Amino acid sequence: MALIDMQRIKKDYFLGETAVHALRGIDLQIQRGEFVAIWGPSGSGKTTLLNLIGAIDEPSEGYLEIDGREIRSLSDNQRSELRNHSIGFIFQGFNLVPVFSALENVMLPLQIKGASTAEAKARAMERLAAVGLAELVHHRPFKMSGGQQQRVAIARALATAPALVIADEPTANLDSQTAHMILDLMRDLNEKEKTTFIFSTHDQRLLDRVQRLVRLEDGLITDGGQRP
Ligand SMILES: Nc1ncnc2c1ncn2[C@@H]1O[C@H](COP(=O)(O)OP(=O)(O)OP(=O)(O)O)[C@@H](O)[C@H]1O
Ligand SMILES: [Mg+2]
Repeated sequence: MALIDMQRIKKDYFLGETAVHALRGIDLQIQRGEFVAIWGPSGSGKTTLLNLIGAIDEPSEGYLEIDGREIRSLSDNQRSELRNHSIGFIFQGFNLVPVFSALENVMLPLQIKGASTAEAKARAMERLAAVGLAELVHHRPFKMSGGQQQRVAIARALATAPALVIADEPTANLDSQTAHMILDLMRDLNEKEKTTFIFSTHDQRLLDRVQRLVRLEDGLITDGGQRP
């Protein structure tokens, strides 16, 4: 059984009277343990697609199953459960809590999941060190560069060791060295812990390191919908 099963998925947004057809009929299956990049120009629907895969938003039409559960059959609570326990999300705009330090930001999902403060702190420190931020754990996001904030967001998404990590342009604001470091970290978790990664990217530098590339254009998959 696929981890993600999308059939004939459409997503429309409404701006007043005008409908934007962001996804126009997506068929996509992703298996556990895959390392998948979603590639496409700006406006092609990458963020929209990832929000559906991450149970953050619902499709307008079509069938979406995440980890064996049909998304429309779940209550709001069941969907939050699914997000909090099985999915780590790295947002395009980081979404860090500005009044929290890096450490507190990374501790948050652990505490939501029920870890003690000491446990959450130890785990968060470990994850921050892994992205090269051991020295900056007490800084607040506004005192950090874009690349550093991105790394906090990555540490936060990985903190609970979720089975599925969804990342929206995880290397967009990073220099080459940091981008490769982040990718190494993701690949490492993919290989060692069998974490499934689905991430969107424009980044040419990462292309040869991806297992499966799904090309998105104008709300449709043009390539890579089937597993290679
Ligand atoms: N909340 C929204 N309301 C209305 N239209 C939206 C909304 N979010 C996205 N869109 C539109 O849907 C289409 C797909 O947007 P999306 O953000 O998924 O693209 P993207 O591939 O992630 O782009 P980028 O590379 O710039 O992040 C675009 O035409 C966009 O303007
Ligand atoms: Mg986007």
